[in-house]
Amino acid sequence: MSETVSRRDFFKISGSAVAGVGLAVSGVASGAAEAAVNTSANLPYPHKPIAHLKGMKVNVPVSFLYPDQASPCVAIRTGKPVPGGVGPDNDIVAYSVQCTHQGCPVSYDSAEKSFKCPCHFSMFDAEKQGQVICGQAPTKLPQIVLEYDAKSDSVSAVSVIGLIYGRQANIL
Ligand code: FES
Repeated sequence: MSETVSRRDFFKISGSAVAGVGLAVSGVASGAAEAAVNTSANLPYPHKPIAHLKGMKVNVPVSFLYPDQASPCVAIRTGKPVPGGVGPDNDIVAYSVQCTHQGCPVSYDSAEKSFKCPCHFSMFDAEKQGQVICGQAPTKLPQIVLEYDAKSDSVSAVSVIGLIYGRQANIL
C-alpha cells in the first residue's frame, strides 16, 4: 500500500472529517437548545402560594418546596429592592437551596445576605439573583420566579430560572 495520499483522497478524507465535526457540533447545539427548552418558563410549572407578605420578616428565610416535594427552596425578604424581587418593595426573592456544585443544601447567612454551602464552601449572593460569590459552584443558584398578589397579600412561586441540581429538566 502506498504511503502517500493522493490529492483526491486527501480531499475525500478531509471532507468526511469536517462532516463528522459538523455533526458533533450540531449535536452539541441541539443538546443545548433542548436544555434551554427544558428549563424555560414554557414547562408546566405549578402556581404555588408560599407565604403571605405580612408574615415575612426582613432577612428571615421562609422554606418551601418547589416545583415538587423533592426540591427545597427558600424565600427571602431583603428589605430593599433587588433584581427579580417582587412585592410592594420589590424585595422578595427565592432560590433553590441545592448547591449547583454537588447538590449539598446551602444555608442562608443573614449577616452577609448570602447562601453558604457547607460541603466545599461556595457562596451565593441572595441580593444578586443567586450569583456565585466564590467557591467551586459552576453556576448561580436557580432562582424561583415569584408573583405577588396585593389583593390576597400572597406570594406565589410560578417558575424557575436555571436548572435545579441533579435534574435534566426542572419538571420531572
Ligand atoms: S456541593 Fe456546594 S460547593 Fe460543593
